[in-house]
Amino acid sequence: MELALYAPGLGYYERDKVPIGRGGDFYTSVSVGSLFGELLAFQLAEWITECGMRNAECGMGAARVQLVEAGAHDGRLAADILGWMRRQRPDVLGRLEYWIIEPSAQRRQWQEKTLVEFLPGVRWADAAFRIPQSLFQSCSSRREEAPFPLKLEPPHVGCYGVLKSPSPSAFQILFCNELLDALPVHRLGWDAQQQQWFEWHVTWSQDRFVWARRPLASDLTPALRRLPAALCSALPDGYTVEISPAAVQWWRDAASFLKQGKLLAIDYGLTEEEWLAPHRPQGTLRAYQQHHQGNDVLADPGGQDLTAHIDFTALQRAGEAAGLKTEALVSQGQFMVGIASRVWAAPASFPAWTPARTRQFQTLTHPEHLGSRFRVLIQSRGNARLA
Ligand SMILES: C[S@@+](CC[C@H](N)C(=O)[O-])C[C@H]1O[C@@H](n2cnc3c(N)ncnc32)[C@H](O)[C@@H]1O
Repeated sequence: MELALYAPGLGYYERDKVPIGRGGDFYTSVSVGSLFGELLAFQLAEWITECGMRNAECGMGAARVQLVEAGAHDGRLAADILGWMRRQRPDVLGRLEYWIIEPSAQRRQWQEKTLVEFLPGVRWADAAFRIPQSLFQSCSSRREEAPFPLKLEPPHVGCYGVLKSPSPSAFQILFCNELLDALPVHRLGWDAQQQQWFEWHVTWSQDRFVWARRPLASDLTPALRRLPAALCSALPDGYTVEISPAAVQWWRDAASFLKQGKLLAIDYGLTEEEWLAPHRPQGTLRAYQQHHQGNDVLADPGGQDLTAHIDFTALQRAGEAAGLKTEALVSQGQFMVGIASRVWAAPASFPAWTPARTRQFQTLTHPEHLGSRFRVLIQSRGNARLA
């Protein structure tokens, strides 16, 4: 999965063509239109303002904010957020640094193009924390070691640096939309005869990739320990689930990077109770090509998107173990409706609610579209005062 998605020049996310949106292989909330980013920006600005007010109550001044996006793809979400801030909340925009965590030189170039009007206010980091596709991590030749905040000398275009935590009193918001479902997974199967889990490996036979059963590596067993033995023993042979140590590690690293503020993920996913469902004997790993979902994930490597549901309970636990407090795990529909209700109460704080925005809102929130398929996990650390 790692090779098929990220091998330089060959991987699905490394090809020239941008495969998301109407002319691509699948939609994301970002590709539905600008509303997703605008509503998210409204929420981010609210959090930043609340912290500023708490600060003012304590007689503290100047606010520093670090917004960090990962999985930014072509930079569309960043452009929608920064565009909204510039129009509606220039006071907030003036206080923040927008960072994109991007291990791929190819994707950084796409992002620079989209965000050219916001440069040099956007900065890129190749690794704030461990990058799962370390095998293929490509580094920009312009990379330089730079402390936070960066001092920019015109005519710098994009600025590359090593993202450091700001001072402990600054406010951070780390967020990602559909990043974690695109990280590599292990595919585990149940052997009903042996009454034990094995791992599905990929091998080559008769000129094509095929699945092969292999014993489970010992480092994968802890994730399975929490499954009740009685439940496992009732599973049919070959019953399959995925686990993503890469996604959990990413969340753990993000949590430890967060000194004060919020960590937010929007993604497809399941909770622990939903994991072993009878109607999902083949797991959730699937392929997308030209808006068709395919189950042959070994076909056309690099030519189709691969994605698997994330385990929200595992992320929640990893964050809590790192000292974060869970604030919410809700559907995207609930999250967006909550923000929109505050927007409608203060219409001047938002661009005109046009028919196009209404259509986008329905797609983002309706349970049969993206409203219940996606969930939002929010965790936080500290009182989040700005300094
Ligand atoms: C499904 S796309 C989501 C794109 C975008 N956030 C959106 O909603 O339209 C996942 C993106 O995450 C990127 N990605 C994968 N691993 C990453 C990592 N470790 N750090 C940052 N981005 C990564 C992929 O290359 C891809 O561009």
